[in-house]
Amino acid sequence: MKVIKVDSKTPKIEDIRFAADIVKDGGIVAFPTETVYGLGADALDPVAVARIFEIKKRPSFDPLIVHVDSIYTIDEISSSFDERANILAEAFWPGPLTMVLPKSDIVPDIVTSGLDTVAVRMPSHVVAMELIRETGRPIAAPSANPFGYISPTTAEHVIEQIGGEVDLILDGGSCPVGVESTVLDLTGDEVTLLRPGGLSLEEIESMVGDVKILNAESERPHSPGQLPSHYAPRTPVRILEDGSFGPEPGQKAGLLAFTPPEGDLTAYLQVEILSSTGDLREGAANLFSSLHRLDRADLDVIYVMAVPEVGLGRAIMDRLYKAAGSKS
Ligand code: TXA
Ligand code: MG
Repeated sequence: MKVIKVDSKTPKIEDIRFAADIVKDGGIVAFPTETVYGLGADALDPVAVARIFEIKKRPSFDPLIVHVDSIYTIDEISSSFDERANILAEAFWPGPLTMVLPKSDIVPDIVTSGLDTVAVRMPSHVVAMELIRETGRPIAAPSANPFGYISPTTAEHVIEQIGGEVDLILDGGSCPVGVESTVLDLTGDEVTLLRPGGLSLEEIESMVGDVKILNAESERPHSPGQLPSHYAPRTPVRILEDGSFGPEPGQKAGLLAFTPPEGDLTAYLQVEILSSTGDLREGAANLFSSLHRLDRADLDVIYVMAVPEVGLGRAIMDRLYKAAGSKS
């Protein structure tokens, strides 16, 4: 594990460049933001992003926030930045506000858990901003804690929790805001609060009027994994139990397999292989795109061969069980 101490206001450019090179090479850098420490990867590199989930040991995938250093980058990653988004960006960016917007095609599906929306934020911490600028890429970053732990607000928290697994930790001292950003959904007619955070509701309402708050128990997600939000294919999904193989006669079937399966695949109209070499990271990186392609192929059913439930395999199977459960 490598830790570099940086000044939170005037970090040395060579330290920032060192970190940026790691991100450009597909590595993972923990870095300070004004809210909490983030676990950052190149947001346009799906395999690097898969490593974030591996390090977080989350038993499911969660959509990530994409961090940008300028409003121009947003036009690349979002297909629509409307007047409300503009007003909020003018008023509160850089700062602890995340906006959920329609996504563009260049954002990999693993970043958004297959959703057609993307969460975007421009952080105000100098170290975060300079890291994004030097990298020249948007940076996907969840809070730098393992699943089930609280968000880290110092580099020591990061070192204790996941230090051994990241390529670099930029230690910029403690995070001034100390709670995560406020997350707003701007994809509907009403501005909706998805997560209270470092920017107050009052400040937001002073700029865009009433914000919808999900009050009713039924409206509120019980856990992040149950957010309204997770991509589910429209086509029924069936997990193939050990030994069973092949569609029923007359069925228009697709197959999602982890590695190239042995046996006759001609009965399947479309086959998606998650990783030709059996690499779980690559498999995770390809999961949502493969599901999307199968879903678009006008099939009666998508058969899935189970993935080993170790490491990222657990998160992959969590998504697949959910997809199967909701349709069978
Ligand atoms: O302050 C922060 O936001 C920190 C720093 C590092 O920027 N990041 C952070 O990320 O807290 P994370 O992954 O721990 O939380 C992101 C939140 C989750 O609640 C996730 O469900 C939500 O944002 N989110 C991300 N993309 C979304 C989307 N497309 N639609 C709805 N919610 C989304
Ligand atoms: Mg978090």
